[in-house]
Amino acid sequence: MLSKYPDYRIINLDKLTYAGNLKNLVDVEKSPNYVFVKADICDARKIKSVFEEYQISDVIHLAAESHVDRSIEGPMEFVMTNVVGTVNLLQIAKDFWKGEDGHIFHHVSTDEVYGSLGDEGLFEETTAYDPRSPYSSSKASSDHFVRAFYHTYNFPIKISNCSNNYGSHQFPEKLIPLMINNIVKKKPLPIYGKGENIRDWLWVNDHASAIDTIFHKGRIGEAYNVGGLNEWTNIDLVKYLCRILDDKLGREKGENEKLITYVQDRAGHDMRYAIDASKIEKELNWKPSLEFEEGLDKTVDWYLENSDWIEEVTSGSYQDYYDKMYENR
Ligand code: DAU
Repeated sequence: MLSKYPDYRIINLDKLTYAGNLKNLVDVEKSPNYVFVKADICDARKIKSVFEEYQISDVIHLAAESHVDRSIEGPMEFVMTNVVGTVNLLQIAKDFWKGEDGHIFHHVSTDEVYGSLGDEGLFEETTAYDPRSPYSSSKASSDHFVRAFYHTYNFPIKISNCSNNYGSHQFPEKLIPLMINNIVKKKPLPIYGKGENIRDWLWVNDHASAIDTIFHKGRIGEAYNVGGLNEWTNIDLVKYLCRILDDKLGREKGENEKLITYVQDRAGHDMRYAIDASKIEKELNWKPSLEFEEGLDKTVDWYLENSDWIEEVTSGSYQDYYDKMYENR
């Protein structure tokens, strides 16, 4: 956004929880149009002061607790940030904008609100909500509040519901960076259940370009699904990563696959997610820019070249948390 829209001033507000890291922002921190504010979206006083100090004209709301396994262990933080935090932001933006034209509140959400698919079909924008995990329930709830503000107060919202992201800087609790990190360190690769669950993977930069497109060109009051038409079973994906890394790490063919370990399934594990992105493609002319194999190759290289980053974010409490969780499976 900063390089594409040099006349925008971007206020990046983040609570910097375990998955946040200011080092991810070194490329932009010196930009004259960029401000970082450390704050919790549940803190009404602080958020109001940020709206006033920076005269916020639009919001792109990505703040969320996002990891399904953590939501199963403890749902309340998900309710706080994802539901209460969202309603707080909505309320403050509504009071600040006072019904004036020209503002946008873009709520970034997930395809998990639609539940789980069988072998056939795709999630469409009209698919009924059927969230099944505490995480997806909290996101579904936040989507409902965002829509309620549109219908009740004519508040200018847009929603995007995206499939699984992958790419650089992703916290290594998510499948792809977790597996890369474990392969590099020759640690077990924990596959939940039989590994037959399916996810639809999209390069994070393509998600970012979809947000840019929806924010600028999408219709007020509308939701847009974003996805890569790129379905993989977890086991095929992990085996593919093993093969790429056999090669890149100079290991024998098949060596990394020996690390695969089937572990207890995730409770309530959604079977399949797959997005029908035809609305954003046809209406807004957006489509993913990268083939998955190319994106994955770039991503693996990024993690190999940034081992310091991985060491830093996995040190301390995260590694204890992860090792304990893995032992319990
Ligand atoms: O679909 C969009 C969603 O994708 C986002 O809304 C979520 O914030 C994001 O976390 C992601 O949710 P998933 O639960 O699909 O992602 P995760 O990387 O945790 O898991 C992907 C699949 O891999 C899932 O079927 C569970 C499985 N898995 C995951 C981990 C971490 C394993 O088999 N082993 C693992 O160690």
